[in-house]
Amino acid sequence: MSHIVRQREQLSIRHVASGDLKHVRHIFERTTSEDRYCRFFQFKDELDDAALLQFVDFGTGIVGLLAFDGATPVGMAHAWVDEFGAAELGVIVSGDVRRRGVGLMLIESLLDELRARAVQELFAYALGENAAFAALARRLGMTRQSVEDGVATFRLALA
Ligand SMILES: CC(C)(COP(=O)(O)OP(=O)(O)OC[C@H]1O[C@@H](n2cnc3c(N)ncnc32)[C@H](O)[C@@H]1OP(=O)(O)O)[C@@H](O)C(=O)NCCC(=O)NCCS
Repeated sequence: MSHIVRQREQLSIRHVASGDLKHVRHIFERTTSEDRYCRFFQFKDELDDAALLQFVDFGTGIVGLLAFDGATPVGMAHAWVDEFGAAELGVIVSGDVRRRGVGLMLIESLLDELRARAVQELFAYALGENAAFAALARRLGMTRQSVEDGVATFRLALA
């Protein structure tokens, strides 16, 4: 079990570890097709282990964090670091724990991890109508930039 990187009352954040496939599955099973479309721009209704393994089993260029409410997994965030020192964010929170600060805590923890790796910039793609992510991004100080084909780009300088 990897160590806790952030804790607030019952909520804790830790790195994804091998053996977390069941936790990732638990979170995905508590999201709707629409949620998953917001995250992946595909409905991703196929939740087999092969499809979920990419969120658990990845190389050193990816940072993955899981959020727990007590012992229950409630959300995850990943950052894919590119060769230019920028990282792309992906985040999803179980439908039954929204608006309790899980997404915010996950991304704030991810930002700490990325700064420790000297990553210069975080960016994210979200559907133009994804009001929840737009509000969360604003709260984090991310700037909404171009909207292309209905997809908005958000950026945050980490220096
Ligand atoms: C976007 C998402 C991750 C937010 O997770 P969350 O845990 O509910 O967000 P938080 O509780 O941490 O919200 C933090 C702040 O963001 C803003 N916010 C989050 N969701 C919001 C919503 N639905 N409406 C308005 N503001 C919202 C608020 O300012 C909120 O603070 P407040 O509750 O004190 O007002 C979640 O809705 C989700 O998983 N959506 C589906 C996947 C997705 O869209 N991913 C983004 C693309 S990668």
